[in-house]
Amino acid sequence: MEWWKKTIVYECYPKSFCDTKDQGSGTIKGITSKLDYLKSLGVGAIWITPVYSSPMVDNGYDVADYYAIDPQYGDMADMDELIGEAKKRDIRIVMDLVFNHSSDKCAWFIESASSRDNPKADWYVWRDPKEDGSAPSNWRALFGGSAWKWCEARKQYYLHSFAAEQPDLNWENKEVRKALYDVANFWVDKGIGGFRVDAISYIKKPEVFLDGEVDGADGLADLNKIGRNKEGILDFLKEFRKEVREGKDIFLVGETNSVDVKQLKKWVGEDGVFDMVIEFTHISPEFRNNEKWCEPEEWTLKDLKRNIISFQYAINDEGWLPIYFENHDKPRLVSHYFRDDIDKKKAAKLMAVLQMCLRGTPFIYQGQEIGMSNVAYEDINDYDDISSYTQYELALAEGYSKQEALAGVHNFSRDNCRTPMQWDDGEFAGFSKAKPWLAVNDNYKEVNVKRQEEDPSSVLNFYRELSKFRQKHKALIEGRFRSYEDESDEVFIFDRTDEEETIRILLNFMDYEVKIDPKYEEDMDLLLCSEEDHEKGRLKPLEALLIVKYR
Ligand code: GLC
Repeated sequence: MEWWKKTIVYECYPKSFCDTKDQGSGTIKGITSKLDYLKSLGVGAIWITPVYSSPMVDNGYDVADYYAIDPQYGDMADMDELIGEAKKRDIRIVMDLVFNHSSDKCAWFIESASSRDNPKADWYVWRDPKEDGSAPSNWRALFGGSAWKWCEARKQYYLHSFAAEQPDLNWENKEVRKALYDVANFWVDKGIGGFRVDAISYIKKPEVFLDGEVDGADGLADLNKIGRNKEGILDFLKEFRKEVREGKDIFLVGETNSVDVKQLKKWVGEDGVFDMVIEFTHISPEFRNNEKWCEPEEWTLKDLKRNIISFQYAINDEGWLPIYFENHDKPRLVSHYFRDDIDKKKAAKLMAVLQMCLRGTPFIYQGQEIGMSNVAYEDINDYDDISSYTQYELALAEGYSKQEALAGVHNFSRDNCRTPMQWDDGEFAGFSKAKPWLAVNDNYKEVNVKRQEEDPSSVLNFYRELSKFRQKHKALIEGRFRSYEDESDEVFIFDRTDEEETIRILLNFMDYEVKIDPKYEEDMDLLLCSEEDHEKGRLKPLEALLIVKYR
């Protein structure tokens, strides 16, 4: 089995991880300084969100130079040092490839925008206005507003699926694709372990842009409904795989928004284009039919399980997934999946068991291992996330009150998980000596690494234990998945089975005790429990239990 199926990946959001320059934002040297900490979690790969040179409109997802490190993070020597030091500890570095778009400050775009006949004129998605001079289509960008921006020098519009400062690259152009593969191979040659491929669902554009159905007060149509995974995208990605991946010991994780179970085989596995694809349905069960965060739908455990279970069965034979419940775009799991009055420590442990025991590679997001939670800043201006601003404005335009709009931001802002890492109870949580770019979560005196290092029953030590446990029990890595009680809204029960053993995982998501059918524990031995003791036939509130049968 490939190394990346057996390991644990840690997602690092460098801006908020560790600052060694007293500047209030994290550095690459900061990551290097924490490698032993990450090793103690059993991490074998660190995915670092973009550290390339960037104007930081979208915190690095707007790349100005794919071959340079942004000075705020350090320089190329720091990056080489990180890759080398990580390698010494058998940890590989995974880079984020932002290939749907670049920054508008990228030299490629500046040249492309300068005229209609320069050598890079066709490197971005340029279109003439409609007859009345308006944008070529009514698409709404993912961060709000029209997806088109006017360029006076060319008297044309360019497409930006995300912010206006993130112009979309034109993948139809062979030279563009070659330039992107060269970038990727530059990093492969540095000895990295793989790539997380950003926003890749959007790279295929239609020849002619048609208007979509208007779905907001701004008179625009959601690009997500019209512009994702278009026919022909897999041809690009097959070529990408051949040029970047083939014959190399790396892995490719695609951020493949909206690929469903039926399409999975085309994307991942023997005939697929990625080694793993990021699955989205389980991460936002509250947006089943509608993506308006001001009106989240009611959801239950069954909704969450349904999404997870269908993908788990799908990858029993072929394909692979990152298993994640947090990332830099989502709320913190203890705040997101659980009510405010639920014991956060127990909730964090329960989810840790689920994540470490499902089939796939666990992707732990920084701070998750100590149970960090959401923030709720009082003022919209205390937030930094570009998408929070535009969502807030759109909500106001749609008639929501300021309070309602801010409540939406509290729940779903991407800044919830971008607050500085809580290392200790000192000033700024030990993240930096200077005032951080985003305020530290108030709970840092209770929730921090130092304190949890000293507490044998902490969430952090539980993660460490689980990680060792996963290495010891091959069934948790290679074993087949089978679930029970799929209709239950209280418990999640599933097996992982290989030729040696069946490990049964029983999780009570409720804050009250739940009875379980004795048949589930028959002829099984206790392996691990999140509570001090386990009483047969019942699961305590938020209890996570692992039992085993040897074959
Ligand atoms: C992905 C990233 C997100 C970024 C966007 C545009 O969804 O995860 O953080 O803003 O792509 O690059």
